Amino acid sequence: MSLLSTEICTEIDRWLEKYPPNQKQSAVISALHTVQNYHGWISRELLDAVAEYLEMPNIAVYEVASFYSMFDLKEVGRYKINICTNISCLLSGAEEMVEYIEKRLGIRVGQTTADGKFTLRSVECLAACVSAPVCEINRDYHERLTPDKIDAILKELE
Ligand code: FES
Repeated sequence: MSLLSTEICTEIDRWLEKYPPNQKQSAVISALHTVQNYHGWISRELLDAVAEYLEMPNIAVYEVASFYSMFDLKEVGRYKINICTNISCLLSGAEEMVEYIEKRLGIRVGQTTADGKFTLRSVECLAACVSAPVCEINRDYHERLTPDKIDAILKELE
């Protein structure tokens, strides 16, 4: 039995409709996003299930999933805080924001809170430089960060 739920398969099928039937692998990135959206991260077993569903060699799916940093191949917190530490954000106080979040949550970059709620990561440019410093939490962008803004954001999620 496949690990992919009916909902996931239905969503992947919608992507598959966009490609010729013999090009199922073209939907691999969308399929991985779909699986991650449902499960929060993508286990080895789920990667294998995607490979089977798209009739691809398992290794080809591992290659795609491990190439892109947006795919989480290890368990992460319910809320993934990706804070940009690239040049515009850095010049606008990203380092201070990282320190503030680390202190506020009691974790360092790359770690997850003990309750499994938050994972903090430092990422490259989020393409919102004009509003630096910026972070993305799950799929939402938060711009022109300040300690007060961070407090308000985290309070809503706690
Ligand atoms: S440098 Fe941070 S969004 Fe571009």
